[in-house]
Amino acid sequence: GAAQPVIVAIDGPSGTGKSSTSKAVAAQLGLSYLDTGAQYRAITWWMVTNGIDIDDPSAIAAVAGKAEIVSGTDPENPTITVDGTDVAGPIRTQEVTSKVSAVSAVPEVRARITELQRSLATSAEKGMVVEGRDIGTTVLPDADLKVFLTASPEARAARRSGELKGADVNATREALIKRDAADSSRKTSPLAKADDAVEVDTTELTLAQVIECVVTLVEEKRAGK
Ligand code: DC
Repeated sequence: GAAQPVIVAIDGPSGTGKSSTSKAVAAQLGLSYLDTGAQYRAITWWMVTNGIDIDDPSAIAAVAGKAEIVSGTDPENPTITVDGTDVAGPIRTQEVTSKVSAVSAVPEVRARITELQRSLATSAEKGMVVEGRDIGTTVLPDADLKVFLTASPEARAARRSGELKGADVNATREALIKRDAADSSRKTSPLAKADDAVEVDTTELTLAQVIECVVTLVEEKRAGK
């Protein structure tokens, strides 16, 4: 018979190779893919575009349900729209990046985005690789496999400044450490490793090695090991 859908949760701080790994694992295994950080970025983009005061959690909470966020879950071509507008580019700006932690700390925002995530994950026929910060702990606590990716701050900053061409490594490291601290210390559903997650330290690994490691973990789960 057809294989049961498999749900893979991949969490960890930024710069650990989460997105590249998650997309490649989903593509190799024929699963859907969801970038939950992109959803938090999209709602942040909407708040900025609509002039919402990011320093006022109650102002954010009041409009948390207004933006219609749609995620395309093909790992070869992940898409994201807000009210029908393609925001794949605008959600990666420095402005959105610097404001996303404040917006994603608001419980009303998390409740709304979490609901979207659960409905996408349960409707994926073959299963889904879902990447984020709180997927294994909160969004999908019954995931078949939970992976928590880590790397040294130096390795994470170096990878991020490689992505943002020409960015200063020291400034990137400071911004990244600040964002991870905010994401880890917020009250609602912080960045955390689930007790039953497999931790993979990627500091000394190539992307290809991380992908192979996660694919092997999924295959072992499917084989019932
Ligand atoms: O993965 P990313 O850097 O695109 O995520 C952007 C921000 O979104 C991150 O700083 C915290 C927030 N986020 C979250 O709170 N929960 C998630 N599951 C994913 C991202």
